[in-house]
Amino acid sequence: MLNTAMEAARTAGQFLRENVGRVRSIEVKQGQERNLVSEIDKGSERKIIQMIKTRYPDHAILAEESGKSGAGTDCTWIIDPLDGTTNFLHGLPIFSVSIAVEQKGEIVAGVVYDPNRDEMFTAERGSGAFLNGQRLAVSQAIALIDGLLVTGFPYDLSTNPWPTIDYFTDFLIEAGAVRRLGSAALDLAYVAAGRFDGYWEVSLAPWDMAAGILLVQEAGGRLSNLTGEPQSIYEKSVLASNGRIHDAMLAVLNASPRNIRR
Ligand code: IPD
Ligand code: CA
Ligand code: CA
Repeated sequence: MLNTAMEAARTAGQFLRENVGRVRSIEVKQGQERNLVSEIDKGSERKIIQMIKTRYPDHAILAEESGKSGAGTDCTWIIDPLDGTTNFLHGLPIFSVSIAVEQKGEIVAGVVYDPNRDEMFTAERGSGAFLNGQRLAVSQAIALIDGLLVTGFPYDLSTNPWPTIDYFTDFLIEAGAVRRLGSAALDLAYVAAGRFDGYWEVSLAPWDMAAGILLVQEAGGRLSNLTGEPQSIYEKSVLASNGRIHDAMLAVLNASPRNIRR
């Protein structure tokens, strides 16, 4: 299954790269004017699903653009065919393909592929995380002030006052530095690779994080929700870190008097 995920991610990633600057149709999703989808997102997803269905016709699919299909199986493929659509539409080369396999409620394999750098992040439960075949480990930072953090902002921020702007301000004050790249799957892969020390986000979907979460776990990192409880891909928020700065990040998230928890 990992090989299939890698092959599908590479094929889809190449398709994305070839189509930068060639988008013909952009639609707005769910009435949210910032949440965009193009025919390239959909084309990428079709390619991935076709490859999976050829090899695993009985498995279920949960994909961002076409939703859920298939039942009566233990295995579900969780797919984001283009993570970082806004970047992609602007020709900013920070986007990825994310494919994970969930078996009996547990993510067992995951792949995040960055076609712009030809970086293939892979993980199988219990077997470690890898970048182009080289084993990954989370970073060594032990103090928040030494940490490089990353986050993302929800599309509906203007109408839905998430506290994440407050979190952003608080981390700017407490941490070494904070970034916003625009691809949640890459954010998590980069925590696994030790490029970032910590990541939080408040409004994600399962396909944004399924593969990345396994990468972080298998690279020795820690995951929780924003209050420190066990994290689920079916809840929206996530805190991922190298483990060493996790409690310090939780302290910042939960100290803010402006904090409205969801
Ligand atoms: C988005 C990206 C972004 C995150 C958003 C996601 P999309 O996914 O991962 O970094 O902040 O919450 O929805 O729409 O580009 O697949
Ligand atoms: Ca996404
Ligand atoms: Ca997407």
